[in-house]
Amino acid sequence: MSSTGNSTGNKPIRPSTGAAHSRLFSVGGYRPARVVTNDEICEHIDSTDEWIRTRSGIATRRFALPEETIQDLSVAAGGKAIAAAGISPEQIGAVMVASCTVTNPIPAAAPEVASRLGAVNSAAFDINIACAGFCHGVALGSDMIRAGSAEYVLVIGTEKFTSIIDKTDRGIAFIFGDGSGAAVLGPSEVPGIGPVVWGADGARASAIEMNGDWVDKATAGERAFLRMNGQQVFRWAAYEMAPVARRAVEVAGLTLDDLDAFIPHQANMRITDAMVRALKLPAHVAIARDIVDMGNTSAASVPLAMETMLERGEIASGSTALLVGFGAGLSFAAQVVTIP
Ligand code: COA
Repeated sequence: MSSTGNSTGNKPIRPSTGAAHSRLFSVGGYRPARVVTNDEICEHIDSTDEWIRTRSGIATRRFALPEETIQDLSVAAGGKAIAAAGISPEQIGAVMVASCTVTNPIPAAAPEVASRLGAVNSAAFDINIACAGFCHGVALGSDMIRAGSAEYVLVIGTEKFTSIIDKTDRGIAFIFGDGSGAAVLGPSEVPGIGPVVWGADGARASAIEMNGDWVDKATAGERAFLRMNGQQVFRWAAYEMAPVARRAVEVAGLTLDDLDAFIPHQANMRITDAMVRALKLPAHVAIARDIVDMGNTSAASVPLAMETMLERGEIASGSTALLVGFGAGLSFAAQVVTIP
């Protein structure tokens, strides 16, 4: 090897260097104004308010206006998170929009969102990994900050399920809602985001999927809708996500006793309860239960639940929380974070 570089004599490429550690700086949510009760859902399906509450824990969810776009929802939540972080939008090096309900893939949602937020020095791209999207974004953002490809990162989870839900589908219509939750990540002198435990199982892709190709459906004069094998998803989430959650705590060098809060994806209250039981979480750990008011908002649910817990005083800034995202793919991502 020559003194100027590699064996072919090329000059070495200078690697990027970033911050020693990363942390969450803020969280911000946007909840569409329209509150939709179980009784309203039951106008289209054979069900009852009591059945829905008992089987899912959901009392209400929010629906966006038809004209409100994924970008509108994302800008509302993202703007709140930037303001709370105390940074200027120009300092953001990457904006990610995690969503599985973007119905128009070109262009991605994130460039418009970044532009409208004034994040003019930022890369901007979408992540589609459903309910695990926000936790994937936090993992990517943390690594980017530490590797030096961005100083600050805005991760936004946004869903508009009203675009893809068949309101007459009894197995699905009551579960999902619309919303957006965002977090600003940035450099830190102490670790504020633990290692991610993530993965996917495409062999079980059919557990939650669209009922056909958008283009084929449109050609046939039909609409594409979400379909779900509820029992299969329930069993997978309730029994296979606890070991993932436990591992995320272990790789962060902590024990369950060190946690102050557990903020899993808000899929179904019974799934959360099953995970809490399987983990044998200590009684002092606060549990996110935002699903009661918001339903399942997929990629938005973890940051929205975090914001709710902060607003209600259930967790304090600086406390330690375990996040677990899981859903269609099948896919999952979990990490321990310090609450901003
Ligand atoms: N209202 C009233 N009854 C309903 C119903 C509804 N909306 N949907 C199903 N039922 C009935 C069924 O017909 C069945 O009746 P039967 O016993 O007479 O045959 C009974 O309720 C049980 O159905 P089942 O599908 O076993 O219900 P469940 O306890 O599994 O609950 C879900 C259904 C969807 C709530 C549950 O499977 C679930 O939450 N799965 C996970 C969904 C999820 O979290 N998805 C997102 C993952 S990111």
